[in-house]
Amino acid sequence: MTNTKKLFVKTYGCQMNVYDSERMAEALGSEGYEQVNSPEGADMILLNTCHIREKAAEKMYSELGRLRPLRDANPDLKIGVAGCVAQAEGEEIMNRQPLVDLVVGPQTYHRLPKMMEAVNAGEKALDTDFPEEDKFLKLPKARATRGPTAFLTVQEGCDKFCAFCVVPYTRGAEVSRPAERLMGEARDLVARGVREITLLGQNVNAYHGAAADGTWGLARLIREMAKIDGLERLRFTTSHPNDMEDDLIAAHADCPELMPYLHLPVQAGSDKILKAMNRKHTAAEYIRLIERIRAARPDLHLSGDFIVGFPGETEEDFQATLDLVETVGYGTAYSFKYSARPGTPAAERKGQVAEEVASERLQRLQTLLTKQQRAAQDDMVGRRVKVLFEKPGRKPGQMIGKSDYLHSVHVEGPETLRGQIAEVEIVESMTNSLTGRLV
Ligand code: SAH
Ligand code: SF4
Ligand code: F3S
Repeated sequence: MTNTKKLFVKTYGCQMNVYDSERMAEALGSEGYEQVNSPEGADMILLNTCHIREKAAEKMYSELGRLRPLRDANPDLKIGVAGCVAQAEGEEIMNRQPLVDLVVGPQTYHRLPKMMEAVNAGEKALDTDFPEEDKFLKLPKARATRGPTAFLTVQEGCDKFCAFCVVPYTRGAEVSRPAERLMGEARDLVARGVREITLLGQNVNAYHGAAADGTWGLARLIREMAKIDGLERLRFTTSHPNDMEDDLIAAHADCPELMPYLHLPVQAGSDKILKAMNRKHTAAEYIRLIERIRAARPDLHLSGDFIVGFPGETEEDFQATLDLVETVGYGTAYSFKYSARPGTPAAERKGQVAEEVASERLQRLQTLLTKQQRAAQDDMVGRRVKVLFEKPGRKPGQMIGKSDYLHSVHVEGPETLRGQIAEVEIVESMTNSLTGRLV
């Protein structure tokens, strides 16, 4: 009889970490670990961490502190730290928090089963290499049926070196996975029940994967995947404006499987700040790009990321960000106070913006973005949209899914809707979702 052990994984940060957490659970699954939904009673707890802002790393340390009583109750409990804090801080994590048995970076988690052998023998295990081998090739193949949506990492790492960002250091250099392997994985996901795939990369539109007939860009990959029978929807995230090539813009016009939603961060609206950030484009170039994408797909919902309080940002620079937001108009947006990250060029700069000033700017920006988001969502009322249903809602008889534009939509409907795309008329705009009626 095999003894199944309980694994609890907690994920912080971006979608790529969500994807990695799934892969780590699968890797440990082949070692007899079964995933559970709460840390209580688990034999192994793995925190998959994010290093992007200071608060993100601090969250991890407070979470680790909260695990102390669980270890006291069960001395055999193993605790591991994965992800970008693991990569950035390595052994320091074990020094600061002796509860930690294992530290594994984002590029070495295929070695987890081996590392667990050491941990189970009472040793500590640390691996934050950037190995030559492709971790995805070494991972076990999962066979379980899946929900209707899935992530698929196609590109990892980043060579852009924005002055504020840790990703090039925690995830390493930009690497694209071979196209045919991704096609195989997409077919496999569809065979297991997936109807919508979101292609992931820190810089996903820089994708350039090797294929038998040369190199495929992201547009080619999307066009080929769109031909897979049963794959109804494709999305991709996150993109950099400078890699938004013509063919990818064209795909938004002529590939019906590619959804009308695009996350295209700009970070700031002042050319001086954009330059200091090393974004390598101006505000006007970004605005022009958005016009071209909207010409290809007029109903596109645009999403973005913004940083306020970058070193050297004046009130006038900040005003330029507000102006850009007014000009572009976002359906969704994420905005952050600049956080100085050790080891990044911007952390050393003069002109760090005072905390109160940054907070006040963030509030003004968020007021504007929330207003735009509200308007975009309210605008859906009375329209007919296609919804891919994912799961039952909180109320009995309710089903929840996502529209083409990525809005959450709930309707009264049977559970057999799960995995189906149905036409829905939107009747009401709620705080974070839309209420609809099956047509
Ligand atoms: N690769 C993506 C984003 C990765 S990080 C891109 O280039 O757009 C996600 C977001 O976190 C960034 O877009 C940025 O808005 C924010 N971010 C990154 N580093 C930050 C920092 N040091 N302080 C505040 N926000 C940051
Ligand atoms: Fe970070 Fe810039 Fe790379 Fe995005 S493009 S991951 S913000 S360095
Ligand atoms: Fe965070 Fe690493 Fe993603 S720093 S945002 S988890 S790439």
